[in-house]
Amino acid sequence: MSSKGVVWITGASSGIGLSLAKRYLYNGYRVIVSARHKGELAPLLEQNDELTFIPFDVSDNTQIESVRETLLSHTDHLDCVILNAGTCEYFEIDSPDWDMMQRIMSVNYLGLVHCVETCLPLLRKAANPHIVGVSSQAVQAAFTKTQAYGASKAAIRYFLSSLRIDLKKENIDVTCILPGFVDTPLTQKNTFPMPFLMPAEQAAARIERAIERRPYEYAFPKRLSVMLWLGRHFPKLWSALTAPKE
Ligand SMILES: NC(=O)c1ccc[n+]([C@@H]2O[C@H](COP(=O)([O-])OP(=O)(O)OC[C@H]3O[C@@H](n4cnc5c(N)ncnc54)[C@H](OP(=O)(O)O)[C@@H]3O)[C@@H](O)[C@H]2O)c1
Repeated sequence: MSSKGVVWITGASSGIGLSLAKRYLYNGYRVIVSARHKGELAPLLEQNDELTFIPFDVSDNTQIESVRETLLSHTDHLDCVILNAGTCEYFEIDSPDWDMMQRIMSVNYLGLVHCVETCLPLLRKAANPHIVGVSSQAVQAAFTKTQAYGASKAAIRYFLSSLRIDLKKENIDVTCILPGFVDTPLTQKNTFPMPFLMPAEQAAARIERAIERRPYEYAFPKRLSVMLWLGRHFPKLWSALTAPKE
């Protein structure tokens, strides 16, 4: 087993998670990856003994026990978990799909909670454990059509903040990552301008460096954080600038 440690990355079949899996592998970690499908992981899995795929639909809480058992069959502990699985849909107020709220919450928010439930016993066996959850800069100021996605990411942020307080006595660190726009299958369907869009590899490099420092939160890129800070502090102006026109 690698001396660098064991990391579990969810949502690793494409985008940010896939890039993170490649970086951790390259840097000598034992990497366990999950998603519903192998997707772009398939060729990597054939070439790397240090990479293990465990299928997990994070929205399905009936899979928690079996995924934990499978994790335990590969490792007796986890040093770091990066809970990154997520999805996005945009809400249309003129033809509302209210079921979207439940769909997105079950994957993004409850999915992350299910992952914490799955891996906490294995983290407790590590010397210096770390839980990392992926929220979004979308929580910093409201955007149009993001009622479902934004609420799920805000719920993640609050859940992790509270978890951090309660896990302090066990020395389990908790970090919340707030990415800006990253070029992945999730954003490639967007038709609106995405300021400061960056490649997934660049986002993964920033996230990996931040994880080493174990901050409570890491929001990037800073230019977007500043823009959203203004939006939060001047909500009427933000709303006037971002509201869809008739
Ligand atoms: N791209 C951005 O601009 C951006 C910005 C802020 C935050 N984020 C967040 O970053 C994370 C990664 O997103 P991405 O941009 O890299 O998107 P992506 O390429 O679409 O990756 C999403 C990953 O989540 C997995 N996933 C989706 N539903 C799942 C489910 N029910 N169970 C298990 N895995 C599931 C997908 O795999 P399967 O389909 O095989 O299950 C895939 O591996 C997400 O949480 C997203 O909200 C992204």
